Amino acid sequence: MGNSKNPVLLDGKKTSDQLKASIQIKAQTLTSLLGRPPGLAAVLVGNDGASATYVAAKMKACAACGIHSFTVHLPEDIAEEELLQEIEKLNHQEHVDGFIVQLPLPKHISVERVTEAIRPEKDVDCFHPDNVGRLTLGRPRFLPATPGGIITLFNHYHIETEGRHVVVLGRSHIVGLPMTLLLAAPGAGGNATVTVCHSRTQNLEHHMQQADILIAAIGKPAFVQAHHVKPGAVVVDVGITRVPDNTAPRGYRLLGDVDFPKVAPKCSAITPVPGGVGPMTIITLLSNTLEAASRNMNRL
Ligand code: GUN
Repeated sequence: MGNSKNPVLLDGKKTSDQLKASIQIKAQTLTSLLGRPPGLAAVLVGNDGASATYVAAKMKACAACGIHSFTVHLPEDIAEEELLQEIEKLNHQEHVDGFIVQLPLPKHISVERVTEAIRPEKDVDCFHPDNVGRLTLGRPRFLPATPGGIITLFNHYHIETEGRHVVVLGRSHIVGLPMTLLLAAPGAGGNATVTVCHSRTQNLEHHMQQADILIAAIGKPAFVQAHHVKPGAVVVDVGITRVPDNTAPRGYRLLGDVDFPKVAPKCSAITPVPGGVGPMTIITLLSNTLEAASRNMNRL
């Protein structure tokens, strides 16, 4: 573990590249057993640039690992009923082992109706209430992508969670809530004492300063500053916000929730943005797809 001024960089890009090699081997085995490659579909509604980039990254990772993938791109003004029909098609397509509906969705569409329409056995994002319920009870069908990726990154860098105080900033259904469940659960990668902070938390700075491991998932660029962090803490940055920047090639920069240059010297380990949590999220999604395909094989 690094010491102050010289933290270990928790390199999600490098780690995910290493893990992709074993995913590729498993995908090959499944391809010969199933007589077709494992399949992942993504539903993308509208023209949000960030969502399109994330979906493209997921498709690219599938291609690199021998997983068949495709995107169902639907217009921004699609009616909710029509989207539900597209989901129903994917529920029944045999070559689709798992699929995701990229969030956020346009305001006129109910996220709850959409996530509940996905067949739980194909819900590789782990968003369906059945799957969240199973996760809560310690009997997960799939691991939620971002929290699962963070646990895998901890495992890779031998970061112990047992008995440690983890402070999670944010209680979103995608990150904060399932992250809390995994960390507090019994067993490897869990057994932590978890504090969940959110917009109504009082004495937020005090809570952050108690963290052995601080996980920031609030979507506020550079929110976490050096004085928020206990010396030697592990800091995980889930935030990834596009901030306009005329000098950048694409016209924007990506900023995490953590002020990296100021916070890093105080940490024992820290994730960068980009190249930290993001690539690990994709690893969980690919692993879940293989898990779904292997359950389908057992049904043959
Ligand atoms: N939007 C941001 N993160 C995610 C994710 O993990 N899955 C989906 N479907 N949408 C997202």
